[in-house]
Amino acid sequence: MNAQFKIRTAARMLKKGEVVAFPTETVYGLGANALDANAVAKVFLLKGRPADNPLIVHIGDDRMLATVAGSISPIAKRLMKRFWPGPLTIIFRKKSAVPSITTGGRADVAVRMPKHPVALRLIKEAGVPIAAPSANRSGRPSPTAAAHVLEDFPNLFVIDGGETQHGVESTVISLVGKPAILRLGAISVEEIREIIPAVAVKTRPVGNVAASPGQKYKHYAPSIPLYLFRNADTLKEHVKKDSVILCREQDLKRFTNAVSLGKTNEEIAHNIYAALRTYKNGELLILGVPNKGLGRTVMDRLEKAATAVF
Ligand code: TXA
Ligand code: MG
Repeated sequence: MNAQFKIRTAARMLKKGEVVAFPTETVYGLGANALDANAVAKVFLLKGRPADNPLIVHIGDDRMLATVAGSISPIAKRLMKRFWPGPLTIIFRKKSAVPSITTGGRADVAVRMPKHPVALRLIKEAGVPIAAPSANRSGRPSPTAAAHVLEDFPNLFVIDGGETQHGVESTVISLVGKPAILRLGAISVEEIREIIPAVAVKTRPVGNVAASPGQKYKHYAPSIPLYLFRNADTLKEHVKKDSVILCREQDLKRFTNAVSLGKTNEEIAHNIYAALRTYKNGELLILGVPNKGLGRTVMDRLEKAATAVF
């Protein structure tokens, strides 16, 4: 099937209330018509996703934004101008056209305009906003290739767009109340601060209170134990016969047989989820990266995926 035909088929399926997987510039999404409660219910069921964990609504243009979100502030407009289409998800007041199942029962809605041409084309052809979480079973690493989607959901209709560009999910920012980053992602905190210098970073629950429901749940777990280290010497003390060591290219020389995750933060972000899915025996020992720019997003994901952090 050629790509155009696959997109057209997927659009038809979405209009009929079915679920399809599609590429975005961050990770693959598991999409359904965001305005169709029955279709959205299928996404929750397929993923095994808790009902209180809301989905991101993907839109193709400003007209579609106006159908799902209200109270669009000047600061939101500046963020959209700078980062849309692209990997920034903004939380707005929800409009009544969006069923409450899509937003996990919340009065606000997370929206993003993806940059991937296949995603944009699909939204346009379907003519409806698409609610899409990452196309992995709940708790597993997000899929950055069509093969990862099929590993978790062998019977799903997937549009193959090759490897995704960023490899980590969108950054989530709330503009309901004081601006706050709720999930680190493909756009760094530093880049957001260029537009909102005082933005808060609330990416971890405080006690039992999570600013975003996704913060409460186990994430990104590989099928074998993963130990994260901040220091190469501590890592070395933990090496066993069946350990696989992963680190930055510039740290390879510290170990006798480590595997490179890439050199720049962009490369490492691009590769990280595929690496977590690759190894199925033994245990992973990963040397952390500096906590700056996209490195901070990579560390956030590794800390959540880890069995233990040393
Ligand atoms: O890059 C991405 O964002 C990918 C692609 C497919 O677009 N999608 C994605 O969706 O990562 P998901 O469902 O895996 O993660 C969405 C996150 C969750 O942590 C969820 O709790 C949070 O966004 N979220 C969604 N709606 C929210 C809302 N109304 N208020 C607070 N947090 C929300
Ligand atoms: Mg996810």
